[in-house]
Amino acid sequence: MKTKFVPTLLLFSLSLFLSLAVTHVLRAGDVPDINLGYEQSISSSESSQSIQFPDNYQKDFSHYATIECPNSGIVRQMYANSTAIAAAKAEQNLPEGSVIVMETHTARRDANKLSPVKLNNIFIRAKTDTSENNNSQNWQSRWFSPSGSLVSDNENSCRSCHNRVKNRDYMFTLPQLVNSAKTNRLQYGQTEFGLAVCR
Ligand code: HEC
Repeated sequence: MKTKFVPTLLLFSLSLFLSLAVTHVLRAGDVPDINLGYEQSISSSESSQSIQFPDNYQKDFSHYATIECPNSGIVRQMYANSTAIAAAKAEQNLPEGSVIVMETHTARRDANKLSPVKLNNIFIRAKTDTSENNNSQNWQSRWFSPSGSLVSDNENSCRSCHNRVKNRDYMFTLPQLVNSAKTNRLQYGQTEFGLAVCR
């Protein structure tokens, strides 16, 4: 009995040691991975072309959608440049150089409609790389004030939320962009997403 017990104990200790070692290695590996992702996004925004504020987007871009968020009383206006519009019209993936601008406005409730009264923020997403398909890192994100000065280039929150619509190329209003590009008409609607996204 005793002689059988010893190898079993040895085997047990060995597997315990191995599982601890594996967990430790995985843990140690996880941390640099996360840091690496962050550093990669920083260095990519430094090395590849950085997003410039498109001064004349209201004139040069197409206003493709107006999205109301009734719960929060916010109206969002979306604009796309000609590169994005041409691809959407042809139902092709958005190529490098596609730029989407979103304005958020506080709004007044008029009958059953929200009318924008004050521009609060300007959010921009631009495709700067398509070497790898369907990668959220293909999009760069920036947050600007109404006057066009940079508020934040921290892309982590933008990416984590836009990952919800990975199947739409990380773009919530891709269906509206395609409809607008095809019909040449502004798409008007309410957000499909809850209060949490309408700050
Ligand atoms: C909590 C979720 C969330 C976060 C965080 C977020 N967005 Fe969005 N974004 C949305 C939703 C939802 C829409 C679509 C509009 C709607 O339904 O109200 C949208 C739309 C957009 C659009 C128009 C194109 C599209 O995808 O429809 C741009 C541009 C944009 N966001 C940029 C940004 C930037 C830049 C950041 C980071 C500073 C950011 N977003 C962070 C949820 C988010």
